Amino acid sequence: MKVAHTVAELRQALPREGVGFVPTMGYLHRGHLALVERARRENPFVVVSIFVNPLQFGPGEDYHRYPRDLERDRALLEAAGVDLLFAPSVEEMYPRGFATRVSVEGPLTALWEGEVRPGHFQGVATVVARLFLLVRPERTYFGEKDYQQLLVIRRMVRDLGFSLEVVGVPTVREEDGLALSSRNVYLSPEERGKANLLYRALLAMREVARAGGSVAEALRAGEGVLAEVPEFRKDYLALVHPETLLPLSDWMPGARGIVAGRFPQVRLIDNLEVHP
Ligand code: PAF
Repeated sequence: MKVAHTVAELRQALPREGVGFVPTMGYLHRGHLALVERARRENPFVVVSIFVNPLQFGPGEDYHRYPRDLERDRALLEAAGVDLLFAPSVEEMYPRGFATRVSVEGPLTALWEGEVRPGHFQGVATVVARLFLLVRPERTYFGEKDYQQLLVIRRMVRDLGFSLEVVGVPTVREEDGLALSSRNVYLSPEERGKANLLYRALLAMREVARAGGSVAEALRAGEGVLAEVPEFRKDYLALVHPETLLPLSDWMPGARGIVAGRFPQVRLIDNLEVHP
């Protein structure tokens, strides 16, 4: 596996075509490796980027303490058969004077994560657009765990006419249902024991849906699960349209349950298709 730290090194190592691309912020877990495996199956050449993107963290968020371990990540990617790792510095990605932002407008970025983390999706869209222009992939892989991010990237790709396919890959979970996330390392052992409550809330909503209950009843069931853990502060729990993310009052195919909130040291999000 080659490692490129600069744009010049990246350009030199890239083939003309056949690139599958997995953008990450590193501190890799089995969820990232599922993206890499899928990319490996579908493309002759696999590029992974590791870049903790300052633009997508708000003031007071965890940019400085976001977990980082490039050596461990490098070894994992090498073992997974990745061809090229791109691990640029902040100065390489955003050289002095960098002033451009990519902003997807409307409810897709204003709601949910967009409301709790203003500016987050602009930071994500800006770095991902820049990475797409540098790496020129034919396919790119994003986890469904960050469902809203996946939709924002799809919107950006359509709107700006990037000629690439965005592949969504199902969430990988721990045995108790907790969705894998690099931030799970912040959970205290006690919090870790309770952290699957987001998944349990989503399952409770799905159970109500399957038993013929209404959207309002499903939401009440989800709220009931979240209320079992008082130290978890909910940001939102909702049933939404799978493409627009607007709240639903009636069931529809693909209806998505979304949930987010925080333990004292860590914010968690999750989602699930909740279909009657
Ligand atoms: O999902 C992530 O890890 C990040 O938001 C991404 C897509 C790599 C952009 O920094």
